[in-house]
Amino acid sequence: MASMNSGHPFCDPVFDIRGKVVLIAGAGGGLGQVIAESLSARGAKLVLFDSNPEKIMEIAARIPEAVTETASITDSMAIEKAVHLAVETFGELNGAINSTGIFSMGESALLEEAEFRKCIDINLTGAFLFSQATMKAMKENGGRIIHLASVSSFVSNTHYAAYASSKAALSHLVRVLGREWAPFNILVNAIGPAMVETPMSAGNLQDPEYRENVLSVIPAGRLGLAEDLIGTVILLLSNGGSFIAGQTIYVDGGRTLV
Ligand SMILES: NC(=O)c1ccc[n+]([C@@H]2O[C@H](COP(=O)([O-])OP(=O)(O)OC[C@H]3O[C@@H](n4cnc5c(N)ncnc54)[C@H](O)[C@@H]3O)[C@@H](O)[C@H]2O)c1
Repeated sequence: MASMNSGHPFCDPVFDIRGKVVLIAGAGGGLGQVIAESLSARGAKLVLFDSNPEKIMEIAARIPEAVTETASITDSMAIEKAVHLAVETFGELNGAINSTGIFSMGESALLEEAEFRKCIDINLTGAFLFSQATMKAMKENGGRIIHLASVSSFVSNTHYAAYASSKAALSHLVRVLGREWAPFNILVNAIGPAMVETPMSAGNLQDPEYRENVLSVIPAGRLGLAEDLIGTVILLLSNGGSFIAGQTIYVDGGRTLV
């Protein structure tokens, strides 16, 4: 039977992101790439930001209507440059997604000070600088800021002192900014995935015991997929997310229930 919409691709106005201008930091990463491709396929215009020039060029080549900036998220001037690029190229900035990050794992008693500091610098201070620079371009018309937090914002895996602290603090930063900037219609939220096999996690997941331990605390019985996050990303960018502020939405197969 022919559907009423046959010949007319249906776009639900609740989740419509066509024409939205979105800056994606960490766009060269395992999650960032899938997010970038998924948003582009739904008509978003993208500025792709990452510290890895090869990865960013590789992903940009696959995406129409995208411009790029290569720098660290800890460099506030560089983020401002990327924001200006969005406004100059596409006229405005509607959304900003931070999917940068580094992982750290090690016995807390032996963890190097430099590693702890680096994790906080990129995962937390970088997220703050990214929020600050992107909100300036959203003050007139409002906008959406989304950070990739983690189930580690909530659960206390041993040997995750640096990473889990950075992610818990990030989720709380999102609460503070969510409250402070909601009056400007700038909605700040986070997504907390369970483990997904990406360049960040692939090395550790090669160890069968580690993989088994990870799976044993995910009630859904599998690792996450980058694609699992897309519905939540679209929700938080679209009309559907108009009244969501300061939340970390866990997309985790139940990991935070354990
Ligand atoms: N993969 C997982 O299991 C998982 C689970 C929960 C949360 N997360 C979070 O999701 C985000 C993305 O993770 P991923 O799995 O795609 O990791 P990834 O390592 O595949 O990608 C991270 C990207 O960030 C970039 N990056 C790193 N440091 C940077 C910096 N200082 N400035 C700019 N770019 C920088 C890297 O070049 C890379 O392209 C991270 O915040 C991560 O903590 C990942």
